[in-house]
Amino acid sequence: MNIAIVGTGYVGLVTGSCLAEIGHQVTCLDTDRNKVARMSSGISPIHEPGLEELMKKNIDEGKLFFTTDYNEGIRNAEVIYIAVGTPQNSDGTPDLTDVKQAARDIAVNINKNAIVVTKSTVSIGTTEYVKELIQSLINDEVKIDVVHNPEFLREGSAIHDTFYGDRIVIGAENHQASSVLKEINSAFGIPVFVTDIRNAEMIKYASNAFLATKISFINEIANICEKVDANVEEVAYGMGLDKRIGHHYLQAGIGYGGSCFPKDTSALVHLAGGVEHDFELLKAVIRVNNHQQISLVDKAKKRLGSLKGKKVAVLGLAYKPDTDDVREAASLVVVKRLLEESAFVTAFDPYATENAKQQLPKSVFYTHSIKNALDGADIAFILTEWDEIKRFSLSEYETLMKHAIVFDGRNCFPLEDVKDYNIEYYSIGRQTIL
Ligand code: UDX
Repeated sequence: MNIAIVGTGYVGLVTGSCLAEIGHQVTCLDTDRNKVARMSSGISPIHEPGLEELMKKNIDEGKLFFTTDYNEGIRNAEVIYIAVGTPQNSDGTPDLTDVKQAARDIAVNINKNAIVVTKSTVSIGTTEYVKELIQSLINDEVKIDVVHNPEFLREGSAIHDTFYGDRIVIGAENHQASSVLKEINSAFGIPVFVTDIRNAEMIKYASNAFLATKISFINEIANICEKVDANVEEVAYGMGLDKRIGHHYLQAGIGYGGSCFPKDTSALVHLAGGVEHDFELLKAVIRVNNHQQISLVDKAKKRLGSLKGKKVAVLGLAYKPDTDDVREAASLVVVKRLLEESAFVTAFDPYATENAKQQLPKSVFYTHSIKNALDGADIAFILTEWDEIKRFSLSEYETLMKHAIVFDGRNCFPLEDVKDYNIEYYSIGRQTIL
């Protein structure tokens, strides 16, 4: 099938590359000439395992194209995906500016019947609005159907999630449109759930809010475990053995970040408020997460009295491993607070340094090696569980740091291993090693 994708951010680029891989002709549209030129030669603007290989393969096979020419891309497409960003407005609602612009761009260039699919996470009713907007701008002879087909991709495993996801949700206004979407996705071999558009829009918000709730729940359990001398990892494992609970999203840590959970939980709270429902539970989930992100700095202050003038190594800046993304990462909150406390911060991340530089004050020093970050440091914070950080020898903390005091926000090391070294070790929901 001939497919156009408006927007080449995370979702658009991964979706486009994967749809090409299963045999579709895909044209990805973006207004940024430089970005399009680089993508056309197989260079991905984001760090995502396996993405460049997939892009290059499908470009070479003539199934994947990148262009700034919206007319060419949209004119020939049977199905047009909107995959632009929906960032958060200051009041927590999603900013639909780019979605509306994409709809206008489609209207200007469309010249035959087509299906328009919203892939971006959008507030309930937006997909119907997109239809009204496009229809109001085109002549009556061209008919469009709209579908909402939410993405459930995790950064760092987005390609895997596309090919091996648990379900594909298709929210369609009619049977014909849902059949086309089913046909497009059939080669993935993933169970499909067809529903109406509003249900599909809500499934996306509710799913992310539920996963965020699991994380805040286990983080609260972790905080209690620390006080009653229990171990959250054992507790989470024991809970997860119950199939009704499951093991996923019960990893306690320094809180959730990223481009989805923080944004989507806020959006759902506002959406509920807009229909006079006070979503108390989800508000608490967000409060718990905000508190969790800062909890390790509070522990460090309690331990050291003051952080003024302390040399602090920050290991990991990305909001999770295998991505260079720092959006809403705990690292941004932690590093800013450390600077407010007049500490000197040296940060290490294998991929996210450039993105972090855009978000953090200039006084942060960045290094390409864990060793350099730890050298002479008073304390270390571990904020992302990169393999490189998990594999780094504990003996080096002992030898490189002044007196090894480590605050591990991702429980990277088994307590039994830490006990073999002269390290003061604070982690999440587990016994402190002194
Ligand atoms: C998420 C959803 O999982 C995906 O379905 C959606 O479409 C986009 O948002 P993503 O943000 O890429 O994906 O990553 P995810 O792996 O879900 O992690 C989000 C955050 O939660 C990270 O900061 C991660 O460290 C944290 N997390 C996750 C935990 O703290 N504990 C867990 O058990 C799982």
